[in-house]
Amino acid sequence: MQKTDERKIAIVGVGLVGATTAFTLAVSGLASELVLVDVNSAKAEGEAMDLAHAAAFIKPINIYAGTYEDCKDAAIIIYTAGAGQKPGETRIDLLQKNYGILKESLPKLLGAEGSILLIVSNPVDILTYAALKISGLAPERVFGSGTVLDSSRFRHSLSRHCRIAPRNIHAYVVGEHGDSEVLLWSLAYTAGTDIDQYCKLAGIPAVNHQEVDKQVRNAGYEIISRKGATYYAISLAVKRICESIIRDENTILSVSGLIDGIYGIRDCCLSLPSVISSQGRGRPLELPLAPGEEEALVKSSQVLKSAMREIGL
Ligand code: NAI
Ligand code: 2OP
Repeated sequence: MQKTDERKIAIVGVGLVGATTAFTLAVSGLASELVLVDVNSAKAEGEAMDLAHAAAFIKPINIYAGTYEDCKDAAIIIYTAGAGQKPGETRIDLLQKNYGILKESLPKLLGAEGSILLIVSNPVDILTYAALKISGLAPERVFGSGTVLDSSRFRHSLSRHCRIAPRNIHAYVVGEHGDSEVLLWSLAYTAGTDIDQYCKLAGIPAVNHQEVDKQVRNAGYEIISRKGATYYAISLAVKRICESIIRDENTILSVSGLIDGIYGIRDCCLSLPSVISSQGRGRPLELPLAPGEEEALVKSSQVLKSAMREIGL
């Protein structure tokens, strides 16, 4: 079996998310080779040419438009193919269409020993589960961007309220990347203390949990209703995941992957904080949750499983 090239990244689906991710990765200097693949080959070629012309301003990188075959030896295959939500649509509404695209394309682009498959297309949790089943790869090597983006949105909201740098805020969103996601208030910390305690210590008003919950949960809808799609923050979330893999960082990120036995949840993909390294996604952490949070997480898994049943997964 072919071996992977450890600094080669493939992006399948070079629409708004794929192209922005390609730009972010090109600027980051992380990869030495970046292959862009799209059913619209002219689009992939145009994006590759445009990015390649940045050569004089970035670290050396070979960026080109390719085929599914060219993805096979990539260390990371980022999957962003398929439709995005129209205003008013949920992520789960995209399932039939995007599952059809995944089923058709995925078998053609896998092949090397050791590739990591990173799913971004929505509904990301269910497509990650489908990709796991279709590819037959180990669960450590197939995961989705999950709630890495939502956790960043949560940290952003808390950072604005507390007037503290987002990097100093530790907070996770878990469960579905979507309507049933769960904000873990019991584990939201800054300066070694929980957020509510911090507000008291700092003499600032308490955070309105309901308001922040609404902002984070509805962020995607709010952006789509204004500009039609989201792509900047997700591309940086994907870059952060790739960085952790390529640099073997052991970063804790709330990616989506197989859960089988944690909190009583079985055979379902959803997000929980997990250690990400060159080996992929380590065992998700079974953190002590508040009872309401654990209950909401289990409900989120039920939402996902019921949608999975509709397509026979
Ligand atoms: P887009 O419509 O701009 O791009 C999708 C691209 O996929 C198009 O260029 C299309 O030609 C291509 N494509 C379709 N079938 C293909 C196939 N078989 N092989 C290769 N390419 C194929 O959509 P956009 O905005 O880039 O979104 C892509 C996906 O990412 C959507 O499902 C969207 O919901 C999801 N998304 C996920 C986020 C997350 O946090 N997980 C955040 C933002 C978007
Ligand atoms: C997002 O949350 C729409 O899933 C996409 O930005």
